[in-house]
Amino acid sequence: MDSLEHFIDEAISDFPNGMKSHIHTVVDIALELSEIHGANTNEVYLSAKGHDICRLTPPEKLLELAYDFDLPVCDIEIEIPMLLHGPVGAKILSQHMEPFNESIYEAVFWHTTGNYELNDVGKIVFLADKLDPVKNTRYPYQRLLHDLASKNLGNAMKEFLDREIISLVNQGKLVHPQMLTSRNLFSKN
Ligand SMILES: [Fe+2]
Ligand SMILES: [Fe+2]
Repeated sequence: MDSLEHFIDEAISDFPNGMKSHIHTVVDIALELSEIHGANTNEVYLSAKGHDICRLTPPEKLLELAYDFDLPVCDIEIEIPMLLHGPVGAKILSQHMEPFNESIYEAVFWHTTGNYELNDVGKIVFLADKLDPVKNTRYPYQRLLHDLASKNLGNAMKEFLDREIISLVNQGKLVHPQMLTSRNLFSKN
């Protein structure tokens, strides 16, 4: 996986400081959660480091890449192509994996909407991304979320998805259908 790490380092080297700082913070939080839950440290590290590899890709380019990769693109993603930065990022990272690593691929792919099928690596990266203190205004319940994430990753996913969907609706924003699917499945189990 050295080539993957090298590719990620190169790709993020030009990112603005704020974005680099977010990535480093997510790596730190993800590794802390990884230690608590006994997840694969190398997979957590590489997924966290690469999760936003396409976060700064222009919207029209994200759509173009999504179509090139034959990704299913839904209406809300056409309206808000930024929602594709996880799936497109996962595809790009997969081109630099030797061998292919499903945990890293899935963790990056679903880090915005969540997915009930994610393993601990994917759940940890999803939650660490939301626990960056810089997002405290957006997610003022970070302390509760961190507590939950330290105890039970699935419960933390459910808590975040519940709150985020309510917040999006209250702001009159669109909700990605996959976020609702994730929420429903985490709520049932
Ligand atoms: Fe992201
Ligand atoms: Fe992120």
